[in-house]
Amino acid sequence: MARLIVVSNRVAVPKSGTQAGGLAVAVRAALRQHPGIWFGWSGRATARGGETRAVEQDGTTYVVTDLPKEDYQEYYNGFANRVLWPILHYRLDLAEFSRRDLSGYLRVNERFADELHKLLRPDDIVWVHDYHFLALARALRERGHRNRIGFFLHIPFPPTEIVTALPQHERIILALCHYDLVGFQTVTDAANFSRYLESETAFAGNSEDGFDTGERRVRVGAFPVGVETDAFNRLARRAAQSSFVANVMASLSGRAMIIGVDRLDYSKGIDLRMDAFERFLADHPEWRNNVTFLQITPKSRSDIREYAAMDRLVSSKVGQVNGAYGEANWTPVRYVNRTHSQTQLAGLYRKARAALVTPLRDGMNLVAKEFVAAQDGDDPGVLILSRFAGAAVECRPALLVNPYDTDSVAMAIARAMSMPLEERRARQRTMRQTLLANDIGQWPGKFLDALTGRGRIVSPVSARGAPARGAGQASAFTKHLRSRT
Ligand code: G6P
Repeated sequence: MARLIVVSNRVAVPKSGTQAGGLAVAVRAALRQHPGIWFGWSGRATARGGETRAVEQDGTTYVVTDLPKEDYQEYYNGFANRVLWPILHYRLDLAEFSRRDLSGYLRVNERFADELHKLLRPDDIVWVHDYHFLALARALRERGHRNRIGFFLHIPFPPTEIVTALPQHERIILALCHYDLVGFQTVTDAANFSRYLESETAFAGNSEDGFDTGERRVRVGAFPVGVETDAFNRLARRAAQSSFVANVMASLSGRAMIIGVDRLDYSKGIDLRMDAFERFLADHPEWRNNVTFLQITPKSRSDIREYAAMDRLVSSKVGQVNGAYGEANWTPVRYVNRTHSQTQLAGLYRKARAALVTPLRDGMNLVAKEFVAAQDGDDPGVLILSRFAGAAVECRPALLVNPYDTDSVAMAIARAMSMPLEERRARQRTMRQTLLANDIGQWPGKFLDALTGRGRIVSPVSARGAPARGAGQASAFTKHLRSRT
């Protein structure tokens, strides 16, 4: 059986305490079904870097490597998180491009290719995850590897008009054409990428059949990441009985709880969410001292200026709401920066009356799906979800909101708090069925079958406006592409 080699920046080495969010949930599901290797960064930046360690557990080998401080700064803090992250989340205003960071990013992609080169066998299947490694397949091809290599982007892919504002976008985004399959969270993201290829290259083909680069056919598809619906429900049922959850509930003294769980990131819209909660309290005095909003927000990427600014902004908004509406015996918003385990969160989701998941832009957002999975079908909580999260495609019966419109989010909170039981049950039932139909258990197989040519691809309807181009032009373009990349 061919080995599966997974590559991602973060590796959730068992018992290491590494938190990698939705990406970890997805990759774990893949490696449970296919034995192999999970390769990535150790999370450590050292003076010289380069130290690589391997740990083996349950059929998976975890291989992690340290990065030199300079690489960490230019690749991770620089190009990945101050250029790609904001641009792919539609935030051109926050992107800070520097050629130095770009060369650090490409250097790390080369460094990873060198490490992989040492362990790759010809029949290994390679699956690369997320925006840290857009150029990894190109570096592997340059080292002679002809393996099947797939790529999955966990975050959004915006329209061409935004992507082309990225300096040297051809060099970075077109590097994806060295993968055999490029997967996205939603059909919209996949369509945006296809439209980018249609407008920026002369490749023959389309989103349904793939694009012919002259060297390979690059296929494009949507593979929305799901959750372990039933297992998460069981976990939540047990966790809701734990002493941790009992303590939290007792501390609320019978008040209803609204929950929010996000990494501290400007894409999550936590500051606007505080404004919406404040507006809700202003407009609905009957709920004052009767509801507590628990916002759990582990800090993230704190070395980056925009994250430090977000930290200050959210803290001051929380202080503002608590100052304006709090009473001696009631704090309206509990803002917690501590990381909580999946079990603790599952129990809290089950006890919450509503969840506020209002990112300004999000690839998928598994908090939304886990909240649904955790609910008691007889008395479920209500999901208030941003229409700009990938999860909105499958969670249509949630209360979908525009997170920029704080008045309408405030109204959605009021509606959630007074929603009749029958309506809550009906919405929950439909969402649960949709989650079950796209359970995470099927996700690796769908992607890997498409990568190895055995499976069907959910491709976006072609967004092509221009006339079809000939195959001859494609190989000419490939030469052009090679000379530029
Ligand atoms: C998002 C990204 C992941 C990343 C995670 C945590 O979910 O898609 O690739 O690992 O955020 O961010 P961090 O920078 O701490 O790895």
